[in-house]
Amino acid sequence: MKIFISGFGTVGQGVLELLLIKKPYLQTRQGELFSVVGVVDSKSYYVDSKEICGLCVLGNKASQGRVSDNPRDGKSCIEIMEMVDFDVLIETSPTNVEDGGEGLRNIRWALEHGKDVITVNKGPLALAFSELDALAKKNGCIMRYEGSVGGAMPIINLCRESLAGQKIKSIQGIFNGTCNFVLSRMDNGLPFEQALKEAQQLGYAETDPTYDIEGYDSASKVVILANSIFGRDVRFSDVSITGISSVTSEAVNLAIENGMVIRLIGEVSDTKLEVAPRLIPKGHPLALSGTLNTALITTDFAGPITVSGRGAGRKETASAILSDLLAISEARRKN
Ligand code: HSE
Repeated sequence: MKIFISGFGTVGQGVLELLLIKKPYLQTRQGELFSVVGVVDSKSYYVDSKEICGLCVLGNKASQGRVSDNPRDGKSCIEIMEMVDFDVLIETSPTNVEDGGEGLRNIRWALEHGKDVITVNKGPLALAFSELDALAKKNGCIMRYEGSVGGAMPIINLCRESLAGQKIKSIQGIFNGTCNFVLSRMDNGLPFEQALKEAQQLGYAETDPTYDIEGYDSASKVVILANSIFGRDVRFSDVSITGISSVTSEAVNLAIENGMVIRLIGEVSDTKLEVAPRLIPKGHPLALSGTLNTALITTDFAGPITVSGRGAGRKETASAILSDLLAISEARRKN
């Protein structure tokens, strides 16, 4: 299976690292060779029709901040994808919820050209899910995106595969590690600004932390869940969004005095599509502290199910991509 990675920030690098570390395991488990044949970052690209030198690319990125000495020179990622034959696009370029950016163009092109797609890029999914889903079906392609919501925390495939046959009544969850970290630190008396600075130092926050704080990142994830699990056809602009910038230290303290905490909760069901700070009783599964994500899934016969895990991070998000890659490999072998 030949792989092309578009976007080579934290997650893109994590994927390549994981594929190198797991190479012997993957060959034994799947009996299949996974070869990365192309990598693009914002400045440069590296392609090799057989297999790129993964260690060279990672080394170049670490020492020079670029994957190679081949500058993009205005080339679009699509022009670079056209240089090499591949089966699966792993799309990890930065999220753009305004127009989907280059990530949306890359996914469209890949699906139109019969490539399977794995993405953790929330912008294209939050803006054009139905279009991309239809495009994948029309062209016989598989599109998977487990890592786009909750990073390493299983949620999409859990609902669609492990809970197949259940009616998922609602999902409520903490889908943004940055906000949860900030609110947890405020529980301990830290002012908002200082807590946010700490969260940014942990590397969880988006390039522009407004995306996190104003609830836009959580809203993208709620849209992805609504479309993929509830079969809805909604977009980012349909979500009722309130972020945490207006949560004061006084409100946090008042909540604590009453045995509660304030958490930024995303909720999705057949009729709901909301992100807002809510009062949660201490001890409730959603009263989680720190950077973890969590989801409380309510089903008709399986009852409530709670999952939690690391919602971001290099190897964590890459692990969700790896599980999608294995699922695609298995599906293709069955065909
Ligand atoms: N900025 C996001 C967060 C990263 O804080 O959870 C994962 O989407």
